[in-house]
Amino acid sequence: MRVFEVNLLLFAGLALAFVHFSVPLAYYAYARTRWLGRPWDIAFDPSFKPRVTVIVPTYNEAHIIEGKLENIFSQEYPQELLEVLIVDSSSDDTLERALKWAGNKGFNVKVLREPSRRGKARALNEGLKEAGGDIIVLTDADSLWAPGALAKAVQALSDPRVGAVSCIKKPLSEDSVEHTYREYYNVLRVAESKAYATTIFHGELAAFKRNILEKLGGFPEDIGADDSYTAAITALEGYRAVILESVECSEKIPQGPHYHWWRLRRAQHLTQNFTKLLKHIPKAPKNFKPILTAEAYLHTVNPWLLPLATILLIAPAMKGSILATLTLTLGLLLLPLKTYRTWMQTQIYLMIALIRNLWNKELVWKKLDKA
Ligand code: GDD
Ligand code: MN
Repeated sequence: MRVFEVNLLLFAGLALAFVHFSVPLAYYAYARTRWLGRPWDIAFDPSFKPRVTVIVPTYNEAHIIEGKLENIFSQEYPQELLEVLIVDSSSDDTLERALKWAGNKGFNVKVLREPSRRGKARALNEGLKEAGGDIIVLTDADSLWAPGALAKAVQALSDPRVGAVSCIKKPLSEDSVEHTYREYYNVLRVAESKAYATTIFHGELAAFKRNILEKLGGFPEDIGADDSYTAAITALEGYRAVILESVECSEKIPQGPHYHWWRLRRAQHLTQNFTKLLKHIPKAPKNFKPILTAEAYLHTVNPWLLPLATILLIAPAMKGSILATLTLTLGLLLLPLKTYRTWMQTQIYLMIALIRNLWNKELVWKKLDKA
């Protein structure tokens, strides 16, 4: 290899590595300094009290369903305006337990038993047909809402410019990687929401205006991230889809090797979502376009620059380039740093997810043990 070729590889490798790290850092810095501090520019109306249907899709949640219902009905919201609809495909006694609990307490819980298990999105669409509320709130059985979450989400929806609201997430587990990942993402979600809308919503609490959902034709059944995709197309329709820092929820995190499968499945669903959204970028509203572009890029393109840069730098390193060797060594030496490790781990999930989507989209997924 000629000196010129070695230098070309070195330059290309360094450039890709630089882009891989600097674009997300620049986006994060921009979001934090320019967007996060802005006022919400949303007219929160505490007297807005529409009928609300909370849809809980369930697959074998018997052990937690009572706690989940307890948590929903402990929210401050007029009981006569609140209905919970459980759409169930369990083989355990989730429904029996839910009905018994509701019967004893006298709360408005409706159930829909599916003939077979067909995935979460199908369940949501079945639920949507039966829901009586003007606001539809989705929530996973294994999540809990902090006090005031429902009321605050509904108040934001009183503003005609707001189409959807979701929560920030607090993991219940002690896992430090999950905590670091969450801190970074919660800041981004709120900052993007203040600028206009965020592209990532959470199934733990995702509230939508029913008329918008009907216009959109319900939830997509061909991809996994029903919540995030619906939020993004709500934003494409010109409504804000926001995550409020005052709407908090927590979720159970799978432990041990299950954690990796869980992160991989979520990454698969997210990347399916962004792949499907790519074609909509040109017609996105002005304030939403940079957000959608940045997030789609960060989830589908940016991860690949990392292995590419590594491969390009190996040849110059072997030919004695000190710069290439230093860069590769630094990449390894930084691994004990938690933030860096978390980042690397996320990039790996995203890349495997994009590849695995080619043959398995995980639309009906295995139930994982959660702490
Ligand atoms: N009816 C029905 N049918 N419900 C289901 C099915 C199904 O086939 N599969 C899962 N559910 C229910 C679960 O019982 C739970 O209440 C909710 O859907 C979410 O399932 P989890 O198994 O808890 O999902 P997760 O927390 O690991 O996944 C998260 O990411 C997904 C996207 O990757 C959640 O935030 C989901 O909401 C999100 O769609
Ligand atoms: Mn869950």
